[in-house]
Amino acid sequence: MLEVAEIVERCRTAMAETTPPLAVRDVLTELVSDPAAVAAAIGPITEGGIKLLHRADDLTVLHIAWTPGMQLNPHEHAMFAVVGMYGGQEDNAFFRRSEHGLESTGGRELTSGDVLVMGHDAIHAVANPRREYAVALHVYGGDFFDAVRSEWDEDTLEEQPRDVEGTMRRFAAANAAWELENRSGSGA
Ligand SMILES: [Fe+2]
Repeated sequence: MLEVAEIVERCRTAMAETTPPLAVRDVLTELVSDPAAVAAAIGPITEGGIKLLHRADDLTVLHIAWTPGMQLNPHEHAMFAVVGMYGGQEDNAFFRRSEHGLESTGGRELTSGDVLVMGHDAIHAVANPRREYAVALHVYGGDFFDAVRSEWDEDTLEEQPRDVEGTMRRFAAANAAWELENRSGSGA
């Protein structure tokens, strides 16, 4: 049976390859080709949030569950990032820096089995459009929690330092809204 330790070990091995982002992509592609195995390794999802699976200077492995309806404002990672979806849907909007601030460069919808590779200069915003959790493994080529990087206000597109605490507050708000919606029985 697949376990988190094996997921991390396979990512760690990929980091030693000549082109780590592509090697990690291959690992995630293989893992999410069996969504049930990843789901069993991670365990049941009871709320949206970020779960740390591995943290080192050169590699961070996260499990992220986007709460239904949640949106995350544009942000950069300042390191390569690979997302492997194994359930739900994650809508990505991409941007680049320009003279006039952020410029839209398109988007991509990810569903179960899809893998997205982002370069170190990628900027994206994320949304979960479905009434189910969007679940994925997120692998970063560095220490996700220690990098100097930016995010942008979704309304003004003003650049500001990345605020991971702010992201956690978004999760809390989205979880509360989703719980309230379920409790009020609006889906019945
Ligand atoms: Fe991101």
